Amino acid sequence: MKKIEKRKLYKNKNTVFTHWHTRHNERDYQKLLKIAEYELYNFTWIATVNTFIKEGNISDKKKILDIGFGWGRTIVGLKKKITDLDVTGIELVDRAIENAQVVFKKYLPKYSKINLEIGDAERLRFEDNSFDTVLSTRVFQYLTNPQKAFHQVHRVLVPGGKAVIMVPNKLNPHQYLWYHTQPLSFFTLKKWFKEAGFKNIKNGSIIYFNDKWHRFSSDSAWVEVERLLTKIPFINKIGGNVWVSGEK
Ligand SMILES: C[S@@+](CC[C@H](N)C(=O)[O-])C[C@H]1O[C@@H](n2cnc3c(N)ncnc32)[C@H](O)[C@@H]1O
Repeated sequence: MKKIEKRKLYKNKNTVFTHWHTRHNERDYQKLLKIAEYELYNFTWIATVNTFIKEGNISDKKKILDIGFGWGRTIVGLKKKITDLDVTGIELVDRAIENAQVVFKKYLPKYSKINLEIGDAERLRFEDNSFDTVLSTRVFQYLTNPQKAFHQVHRVLVPGGKAVIMVPNKLNPHQYLWYHTQPLSFFTLKKWFKEAGFKNIKNGSIIYFNDKWHRFSSDSAWVEVERLLTKIPFINKIGGNVWVSGEK
């Protein structure tokens, strides 16, 4: 019953806000840094960052928008690999900004060019043609009106800019059965990309191992196994996170 209630989370913006407001505020900084130590460098994180860099054409000096940055793990990963990125992150909950800054102090001691703001994926405040890449992981499954957010993403991208959106994968049996809100499939995501005006739309999936396996470096053999699995037909559709990319 509880699970069925939670699956409805995305249908009401206030419920989503309350859920995440509680989650971000219940973490004291010590707990947060423990989570960061645990989650940074696991499979989920390495595969996510690598996918964004590849599919989002991310390189030095590009302007990036991360929608729903959480406590900033994607931003840490991108900035560690490509230091001269200009990253803006938006979050629904203000406490997320403080949390991310605590993580950055430890994991990106001399960071610059990171701008964190309160914002809503469905109402981006940025001008048209503002970013080279827009990315987001595990956020769009909470949106009440994801189609609206896709139009916003398209609007703020420069012509030729790339969007890469990642969410829990409905075609993955574990996510289908156990994920607490709506998982989405690449069929649905591609449809929304198309409706928003994107071209060259591609899809794939990542995460074949338990993300509790932590502390792997990017060149670990297991990371390579994960990368190879993403290339096998059929298997490459059922990873835990599905991503779709498109070009404006
Ligand atoms: C599962 S967390 C993912 C965080 C981060 N992307 C990561 O992978 O670590 C989902 C995040 O989306 C944020 N969020 C939910 N709805 C949002 C919206 N409409 N606009 C921006 N952020 C939102 C929540 O506050 C939460 O931090």
